[in-house]
Amino acid sequence: MNTTIMLSLIVVSVLVLGISAQNHPWDPQPRDANWLKRHEALVNQTLQHKTEEQIVFVGDSITEGWAGNGKAVWAKYYTPRHTFNYGIGGDQTQHVIYRIQNKEFDGLNPKVTILMIGTNNAGGNTVEDIAHGVNETVKELLGKMPNTKVILLGVLPRAEPLGAKVKQVNELIAKLNNDKNVFFLDMWSAYETDGKQHTELYVSDKLHLNEKGYEVWQQTMEPLLKKLDPTL
Ligand SMILES: *[C@@H]1O[C@H](CO)[C@@H](O)[C@H](O)[C@H]1NC(C)=O
Ligand SMILES: *[C@@H]1O[C@H](CO)[C@@H](O)[C@H](O)[C@H]1NC(C)=O
Repeated sequence: MNTTIMLSLIVVSVLVLGISAQNHPWDPQPRDANWLKRHEALVNQTLQHKTEEQIVFVGDSITEGWAGNGKAVWAKYYTPRHTFNYGIGGDQTQHVIYRIQNKEFDGLNPKVTILMIGTNNAGGNTVEDIAHGVNETVKELLGKMPNTKVILLGVLPRAEPLGAKVKQVNELIAKLNNDKNVFFLDMWSAYETDGKQHTELYVSDKLHLNEKGYEVWQQTMEPLLKKLDPTL
């Protein structure tokens, strides 16, 4: 083998290793300065409301949207039950894992923790790696809040090209259900029938929910929430 070929092979190997090392969606990863501010605000939320928090929602923009399009539904069903939102738009599993490892949930003891995460990984990770990231996220949450019950929600239907992929993620993460402290809930059929997305529940990007979409979420999840804790 001549030197040029050998050097090229080394360069390619280093690149491949480098890319795959950066791209483990279970390795904690912070984002930019703006995001760090938002993370700090959520740590503050925890410090200020520690003993009050009964239900927490954890996730990305779809969770964050409870404070936007979901506001009225939240005010009616969740505010009275001391519910707190830990959604940050754009987050992938590795970012939520960073947040968990950096004090967002320290000292909390909510009855129920609701997690929906992974759709933002769909562009850059394999189905298996995303499921691995979700698996770690659940473990990290339970590490900080050992008495909570996690409702692990399946990722919601979204427009193609990534719709089919998130459906496969749901098939893998469904196995994390243990009927003990992890309860998987697939809300897919409330948002899609026979491969046809119920676009009337979404805004125009067919990824984020409108107010009706948040109502459907609340209604679909309520029986499980009540079952897990009838006092809620
Ligand atoms: C968090 O709380 C600290 C202490 O009260 C305060 O100095 C800081 O500005 C707060 N950060 C955010 C992002 O709200
Ligand atoms: C989640 O991770 C654990 C190892 O920590 C593994 O035993 C288990 O099979 C994983 N579950 C799934 C559904 O991948």
